[in-house]
Amino acid sequence: MNFLDYVAEQQRLVDHELDRLIPSEKTPPEVIHQAMRYSLFAGGKRIRPILCLAAAGTVSESAPGAEVAACALECIHTYSLIHDDLPALDNDDLRRGRPTCHKQFGEAIAILAGDALLTVAFELLSRAGGVDDSRKAWLIGELSTASGTVGGMIGGQVADLEGERQPPTAELLERIHRAKTGALLRASVRMGAICAGAASDQMQALTCYGEHIGLAFQIVDDILDVERSSAELGKTAGKDAAQHKITFPAVYGLAESHRMAKQECESALRAVEPFGDRAQRLREVAGLIVQRTK
Ligand code: IPE
Ligand code: IPE
Ligand code: MG
Ligand code: MG
Ligand code: MG
Repeated sequence: MNFLDYVAEQQRLVDHELDRLIPSEKTPPEVIHQAMRYSLFAGGKRIRPILCLAAAGTVSESAPGAEVAACALECIHTYSLIHDDLPALDNDDLRRGRPTCHKQFGEAIAILAGDALLTVAFELLSRAGGVDDSRKAWLIGELSTASGTVGGMIGGQVADLEGERQPPTAELLERIHRAKTGALLRASVRMGAICAGAASDQMQALTCYGEHIGLAFQIVDDILDVERSSAELGKTAGKDAAQHKITFPAVYGLAESHRMAKQECESALRAVEPFGDRAQRLREVAGLIVQRTK
């Protein structure tokens, strides 16, 4: 199967599983489920779930719980976007080509929809069928640490906000990006590997891949914010400079940022060399991360 068909198939699979696992819009209290689904099914690229499933497939044909882990990752990611867009954070009106959750449902429901997606992610993992308890605890640990305050997504978001009032140094930039975005991408790969029963050397190689594509991903996000339009991105372009964010283009300029994204991608590819052909999908996903236009 060619890569684009593979991506479309994985997106369909994840959408189908999410639809099955998240309460319907008719479940009371209706408005919270409407808001969760509004943001969840707005056409996200599903990069984290795809990474999770591709990492699992690199290790083994059989990876019980990988689909649930993929959905849990997407729930956390979508929650982080809903909260990232709130007036108190980045104050954005457009997300995934639609009005942001708080524009559509009001701030109170948007905050609660984010909270609900965060909570349901761990509920899903706790109930994953066919996964033994120790592996479940490991998955829950990975996802909570990656989403948390010490080197995780929330810690990164705090540093990103504080950075608006600080000089943009290379050291602070890397710390923000590794935490706010890199940690969840790294966890996506590791959670797939955990479900597939990866040996420790495999886990190490995949973690290295995850760290490099995690950084590449946010470098590209920063570049796209400068180079693309809101219509192309489905979110407001040019916001980083307007909000004095510490970004790769701000610190290194665009040309060097492109070079660094490519370099991170190459390091990610080197990390999965030991898997040979089995890592083909991971190689393609790394390519997608740096070549994407949205
Ligand atoms: C955007 O993530 C926010 C960041 C973490 C940089 P994505 O580019 O994966 O957004 P969606 O899920 O496709 O909307
Ligand atoms: C957000 O980074 C990272 C998250 C943890 C959500 P950005 O603020 O750069 O994401 P976009 O550009 O709004 O999608
Ligand atoms: Mg932000
Ligand atoms: Mg933002
Ligand atoms: Mg951005």
